[in-house]
Amino acid sequence: MSVDWDALIAAAQKVRQNAYAPYSQFRVGAALLGKSGRIYVGCNVENASYGLTICAERNAVFSAVAAGEREFTALVVAGESAQVFPCGACRQVLAEFCDDLPIRIVGEDGNQRETSLKELLPYAFRFKR
Ligand code: THU
Repeated sequence: MSVDWDALIAAAQKVRQNAYAPYSQFRVGAALLGKSGRIYVGCNVENASYGLTICAERNAVFSAVAAGEREFTALVVAGESAQVFPCGACRQVLAEFCDDLPIRIVGEDGNQRETSLKELLPYAFRFKR
């Protein structure tokens, strides 16, 4: 099934508006496409105890898994600029569910970067003996 990137970008930009980022003022939105065709969104949610902050990407993954979806076909991250690549923790969480995943990063100016999970996290840790 082909990916409707425009719909994913619109969803990521929309949920970015709900980001709770009073400390960094750095708002991020993520839209994850499930194999079912459903889109799961997440925004960053910060905390006064900074380390408890959760990224947009992980919120999208966790929301999908809570809805029963575990296979994904595309991810869009919407940030200030097209330089907002998923952090290392989010890459590892994505790798739990995806061998590879096409990813687009979109900035406020509409600029886009295309990458993939394999490119961002080669040799992901897997619990294999
Ligand atoms: N953040 C994300 O939501 N996703 C990323 O990929 C990188 C960082 C958030 C966490 C924090 O609220 C803010 O951006 C600044 O680090």
